[in-house]
Formats: sequence, C-alpha cells, structure tokens
Amino acid sequence: MAEAKATQAGEPTRRDMLFLATGVMGAVGVAGVAVPFIRQLAPNAQTIAAGAPIEVDLTPVAEGQGIKLFWRGKLIFVRNRTKAEIEEAQKVNVASLPDPQPDSARVKPGKEQWLVLYGSCTHLGCIPGGSAVGEVRGDYNGWFCPCHGSHYDTSGRIRKGPAPANLPVPPYAFLNDSKIRIG
Ligand code: FES
Repeated sequence: MAEAKATQAGEPTRRDMLFLATGVMGAVGVAGVAVPFIRQLAPNAQTIAAGAPIEVDLTPVAEGQGIKLFWRGKLIFVRNRTKAEIEEAQKVNVASLPDPQPDSARVKPGKEQWLVLYGSCTHLGCIPGGSAVGEVRGDYNGWFCPCHGSHYDTSGRIRKGPAPANLPVPPYAFLNDSKIRIG
C-alpha cells in the first residue's frame, strides 16, 4: 500500500503517463499542421516561375546604372537613367522612329528616371547589352544587340538595325519611391 501511495503522490501513474503522451503528440500534431499551412501562404518556386508578381528594391541601382533580373522566366532590364539620358529620350522626333512611341508612354509619371523593359531583342530574341557596367550600349546610348546589330536608345526604342519593335515594357507599378512590383 505504501508503495502505491508513493506512486500516486510523487510520480505519474500509468494513466497520467498516457495523458502526458497524448498532450505531447497533440502539440507535435499542431506544429506539423501549422508549418505546411504557413508554407502554403508564401508563393513557392513553381508559382513564382508561373508568374507571381515580384518586388524589386531599386535602392542599390545607382544613377546611370542598370540591373537584370528574371520574371516569369524572362529577362527584365531596370535602368536608373541620368538626367541627360532622359532628355535624350524625350527630345526625339517620335514620328521618325521605326516603332513610334514617346518616352512618356514607356515610364511612370514622376518616375522618369526608371526604365523597366523586357530584355529580349525584338529581332530574334538575343540579349542586348547595355545594362551592366562595361557592356556596349550602341549608337544611341541605350542597349545594343550584337547578334545582328540592333541599336536601342535610352528609352529602349529601336533606332537602327533589323529589330522591328521597341523593347516592350512589362506590367509593373511603384509601391513606394524605391520599390516596384513587376506583374
Ligand atoms: S536578335 Fe538582336 S539583332 Fe538579331
């Protein structure tokens, strides 16, 4: 009897042990359910590849420089244009362009320094240079496609060479002064 009393007072009985075990299993079960649920809230790699919007911090892109990134498996150029580059793009006689489009139709109002483009030559899809430091920018200081010699200007418009159209602008919006969402 003394032995039975000691068990009841100081140590868990077999029934207590069962409750304890159930409690631990319950906690593990909740954690096990919660993690996949949280994971489901964030887009996975497959979803991103399929076209989920992406946010791009523009802070590291210095004036006059550009970056390249991927969205929906396609290359995107982002350039922080200088005042001179913006003026160059704005003063062009639009009617004289192979693919007439004013610079204002290719940027966001009040954010004229930022140019966001698909980075694929509209001739046969090569990647034009001009985004990274040291890459040849061509005769119009924009982008140059070395495959067959297409020159794009500081608005990404085709100016010379076989490419039939301007580098297209992807869908994007400013979230604040230094961040955009593409898609
Ligand atoms: S693919 Fe760019 S000029 Fe031909």
